[in-house]
Amino acid sequence: MAELKPVLPAEEIDRLVSGLARQISSDYSGRDLVLVAALKGAFIFLSDLARKLAIPVAIDFVQAASYGSGSASSGRIRLTKELGIDIRDRDVLLVEDIIDTGLTIDFLLDYLRSFHPRSLAVCALIDKRERRQRQIQPAYVGRVVAAGFLVGYGLDYAEAYRNLPGIYDLNR
Ligand code: IMP
Ligand code: MG
Repeated sequence: MAELKPVLPAEEIDRLVSGLARQISSDYSGRDLVLVAALKGAFIFLSDLARKLAIPVAIDFVQAASYGSGSASSGRIRLTKELGIDIRDRDVLLVEDIIDTGLTIDFLLDYLRSFHPRSLAVCALIDKRERRQRQIQPAYVGRVVAAGFLVGYGLDYAEAYRNLPGIYDLNR
């Protein structure tokens, strides 16, 4: 990885996350915000984003898995970790590392909606457009990319590379 140039160096990610945190802090000021992060990929993004917010916030996690493995989603998704706190009538922001086909977010939005939050929106660090199968309108996006397979800053390939401070494209 050392010889690869990051597509998003750590300093750039820090600027993007700061910008998102400023927007979210302003948009949700005076409301009852719950950040729900999708494990595992969003764990680093969530921890940085949460610490940059200037408003009070509750935090919880969900996890979904698609059947099968590899770098492409099989399209059949199941929940592997349930929500742990009550989000009814609260303002929920689903925090994701990356939107690819959109199937995971679509599934998680349906799941969260079933608990009747007051509002429900998506914050994704990366919006990867090439393989999109579901219309998803994330309210907050760090960076739009066309294609690639990205690792680092929480993103993995076969569970490797999550701890890299920058984001790299394995296809490059
Ligand atoms: P989707 O359901 O196809 O939108 O895929 C979302 C999930 O697939 C993400 O939460 C990641 O875990 C994984 N994923 C999609 N694209 C990438 C990538 O470029 N690098 C690492 N993981 C990815
Ligand atoms: Mg993954």
